Amino acid sequence: MADNYLERREEALRTAGRTVVRRNTPSLDTLLLRNRSHRGFDASYEVAMRQLEAIVSVNPRIPSSKNGQVFRFKLLDAASGGRDFCRFLRFGAYLPELKLPVPGTEPQAFIVVCSTLPESPSVDIDLGIALQSMALKAVEIGLNVLIVRAFNRQEVKDALGLELEPLAVLAVGKGTDKIELVEVPEGTDLRYYRKDGVHYVPKISLKDLLL
Ligand SMILES: Cc1cc2nc3c(=O)[nH]c(=O)nc-3n(C[C@H](O)[C@H](O)[C@H](O)COP(=O)(O)O)c2cc1C
Repeated sequence: MADNYLERREEALRTAGRTVVRRNTPSLDTLLLRNRSHRGFDASYEVAMRQLEAIVSVNPRIPSSKNGQVFRFKLLDAASGGRDFCRFLRFGAYLPELKLPVPGTEPQAFIVVCSTLPESPSVDIDLGIALQSMALKAVEIGLNVLIVRAFNRQEVKDALGLELEPLAVLAVGKGTDKIELVEVPEGTDLRYYRKDGVHYVPKISLKDLLL
């Protein structure tokens, strides 16, 4: 059922037999292209708690193994502990010499994804679906995220007083990286790299993905 004004209005027009032309609604391809992994964020932009809630709001609408819905979410905006939370996370494993994020560009808002079940292949598949769905929602509302799995779970658990295991963190903000995808053939080095201030991400061409 439609749960916001635009969707309700659209539904009403459809019911009345009117054609609905959506404007300014980015296509899935556009959202996917905008959904790049940023490791630098605009420090002057403060993410609000309601924006984090909007991102998490995708979760009651996505699939999960046996409809288990095992994730719970700890939200941190700058005021509630996000300001210095980045110290627990490791960014950019392929670019250790850059020590990302560059000081002054740290994200200050986070969604910590915890699981009510021990990690398993099913939980990890569900985690991927939840993370990507939230990432797309973030992009839809004009924000960017970095999915982070490189952190010490016990440290994060202790720092936030969590009872559940944190499996992933979404760093959220207005991304400032200049990022370009590079189409490459199968067998190419897939490590991302930086050149002249641009972050390049190799992606295998569709042709080479097909069996
Ligand atoms: C499950 C998962 C875990 C990730 N963990 C980290 C991480 O701990 N630190 C990091 O800097 N990037 C992390 N990333 C981001 C990837 O490095 C990134 O998706 C990849 O370089 C491709 O760039 P793109 O997202 O812009 O396509 C993670 C991505 C995924 C999907």
